[in-house]
Amino acid sequence: MDFMSYILASSLLILSMILSLPLTYGQLVPALFIFGDSAVDVGNNNNVWTIVKVNFPPHGRDFINKTSIGRFSNGKLATDFIAESLLFNSYQPAYLGREARGRNLLIGANFALAASGCYDATADIFLAIPLSEQLQNYEEYHEKVVMLVGDANASTIFSGGMHKISTGSSDFVQNYYINPLLNNTRTPEQFFDSLLQKYVKFVEDLSGLGARKIGVTTLPPIGCLPATRLKNLTLIVFDIYHSHPNKNHAEHDVPPSMESPEIERVSSLGY
Ligand SMILES: *[C@@H]1O[C@H](CO)[C@@H](O)[C@H](O)[C@H]1NC(C)=O
Ligand SMILES: *[C@@H]1O[C@H](CO)[C@@H](O)[C@H](O)[C@H]1NC(C)=O
Ligand SMILES: *[C@@H]1O[C@H](CO)[C@@H](O)[C@H](O)[C@H]1NC(C)=O
Ligand SMILES: *[C@@H]1O[C@H](CO)[C@@H](O)[C@H](O)[C@H]1NC(C)=O
Repeated sequence: MDFMSYILASSLLILSMILSLPLTYGQLVPALFIFGDSAVDVGNNNNVWTIVKVNFPPHGRDFINKTSIGRFSNGKLATDFIAESLLFNSYQPAYLGREARGRNLLIGANFALAASGCYDATADIFLAIPLSEQLQNYEEYHEKVVMLVGDANASTIFSGGMHKISTGSSDFVQNYYINPLLNNTRTPEQFFDSLLQKYVKFVEDLSGLGARKIGVTTLPPIGCLPATRLKNLTLIVFDIYHSHPNKNHAEHDVPPSMESPEIERVSSLGY
């Protein structure tokens, strides 16, 4: 991933927010909301019956307490750095996780789920939650926050909070490039246009729900994603198979020769 340009785009956004906001909170905005795929999933995948998992080493190896907690990374994600730059004391909880309760919700939440895309069918292939459903969860979140702090305070959180979206790579990596039904009937540009329409609709829907600060980043260079760098696709299939909830069952069917360090290394970097 072109991490630097991702960070740069995010930093510019944060800078523009710092310049436009009075410092009424310990942090620069009341809340941070995150939507998207594995690049920003902080553990929602632990609570969903999806086949794309990271609840095994070496994931999280360089994270606080060296715990593997569902990030598709050895350490922090770009959005973790964003939360720190905005001066939050803790990271936004994974909305589907145990931490997303009570006052923890008042600093925002993370709705992202690995393997999801703009295009609902992309998520379906991997049993992930598409953007449209992340939006439903965000609506449900609104109700919880209104119950906690009342209408007026809640709408300050929604309108003052920053909404960050990182999605679209999965639609190419896990769908377009491997799906002849799509790639024989549409050019990459046509497919991209249809994704963009869905992206725009998502931003409009967020805005309809009261969001006023929405951060949009471009797709990271897809060729740098480990899943696309892997020449031998069997290994990806194995990796997904290996991390499947019915793993014990799967292990019986996989030749021992496939249990190489290469697999672990690749699976630690995300999809
Ligand atoms: C790390 O471990 C300490 C001690 O067990 C705990 O208090 C702290 O909350 C943990 N931090 C995270 C981010 O898990
Ligand atoms: C709502 O906001 C007011 C200030 O505008 C504050 O005094 C009050 O404590 C808040 N209520 C809750 C439940 O946080
Ligand atoms: C379309 O999908 C097929 C089947 O997986 C794949 O071999 C091919 O490279 C894809 N074509 C493009 C242009 O992505
Ligand atoms: C892919 O990896 C598997 C498992 O190591 C191996 O059996 C297979 O021959 C490899 N295929 C190619 C084309 O290298």
